[in-house]
Amino acid sequence: MWRSLLPVGRSDRTGGYRRFSFTPADIECRDWFRLEAAHRGLRVETDRNGNLWAWWDPERPAAGTGVVVTGSHLDSVPDGGAFDGPLGVVSAFAATDLLVKARVAPVRPIGVVAFAEEEGARFGMACLGSRLLTGAVTAENARALTDADGVTFAEAMAAAGLDPEAIGPDPDLLSRIEAFVELHVEQGSALAGMDAAVGVAESIWPHGRWRIDFAGRADHAGTTKLTDRRDPMLPYAATVLAARTVATEVGSLATFGRVAAQPGAANAISSAVSAWLDARAPDEERLKELVSQVTAVAELSGTSHGVTVTSRCESLTPAVEFDLDLRDRVVAALAEQGIDPPVLPTGAGHDAGVLAAAVPAAMLFVRNRTGVSHSPAEHAEPEDCEAGVIALAAVLEELACR
Ligand code: GLV
Ligand code: MN
Ligand code: MN
Repeated sequence: MWRSLLPVGRSDRTGGYRRFSFTPADIECRDWFRLEAAHRGLRVETDRNGNLWAWWDPERPAAGTGVVVTGSHLDSVPDGGAFDGPLGVVSAFAATDLLVKARVAPVRPIGVVAFAEEEGARFGMACLGSRLLTGAVTAENARALTDADGVTFAEAMAAAGLDPEAIGPDPDLLSRIEAFVELHVEQGSALAGMDAAVGVAESIWPHGRWRIDFAGRADHAGTTKLTDRRDPMLPYAATVLAARTVATEVGSLATFGRVAAQPGAANAISSAVSAWLDARAPDEERLKELVSQVTAVAELSGTSHGVTVTSRCESLTPAVEFDLDLRDRVVAALAEQGIDPPVLPTGAGHDAGVLAAAVPAAMLFVRNRTGVSHSPAEHAEPEDCEAGVIALAAVLEELACR
């Protein structure tokens, strides 16, 4: 599976992935998914929100039961790693292979899912496919989201042959899901420190993205006196530094990883700077405090430089505590395989976190020895990935085959 998937959307220059939703690289990933499902005789469907599902229907279904779903996403951040998302999808297919090999048959349908636009790299809102499914974003708001070229989510969906008018929550599908288990590469190095190949998620920090626009006045870099300038780069810079200070004080994380200066001339004062604050904290009060202090600095500094500052939240995910009963069943299934998984909180966002508001959800993490993620250097050793597949197969056996 990796051999066919790894070249898709990889930049020769950086070695990173650029699999943005509904672009040719993403469409190729979707074709890969369909092919892998077809190899296994799984029934594939694209739901109304652009999420892909492959179903393994039981020959002898247990009466009156729902479905068990596993999977992750195939899209990437700009220059992302190979594992963030795809490891969960590849492992899901591989886990069904293990069950087949062991002649273990499901009595509940097993769904393998690839959620759309998990990273929000194209349309700005993380976990867009799972948010639409659960109703965490309205169809109207989602349709109007735009990419960097001004293409709306609705237009991109239509260009991919999907109907943007049909998007929105799917309570029927959700009501049938008894459990969603997402396997994911760990995006830190906690497991490496604990000498464990596989871990289980406890919770996800509340987190979100805020876009801050600094509007100033373009002018000549060689003739405009410093005192006459309305340079939006200055309050932007003050805001970046304040974010680091406030995050340290509050015990949280703040990152400016994306910034765009207009018009982008080396010899002109910018007319405008747009910047994206990614903020995450152990609890919602601290997240609120962090964002309010950072935006207050932006506004104050903007005023002192004659720059207008506006900010808006692009996506927000509340704190997630994963379902305790499901976690106990996951841990028990792993114990049967002789695995004693550490239970970890994480600051990374996942579709499982969004699904957790609607269905019992759980996560398995696979060790990442360096902890590097959202980077071409992201890596998990093959033997750890294999341990992840064995763990996931054990969980699917417990949840869907008994
Ligand atoms: C997803 O990877 C996120 O936490 O940004
Ligand atoms: Mn990611
Ligand atoms: Mn991910």
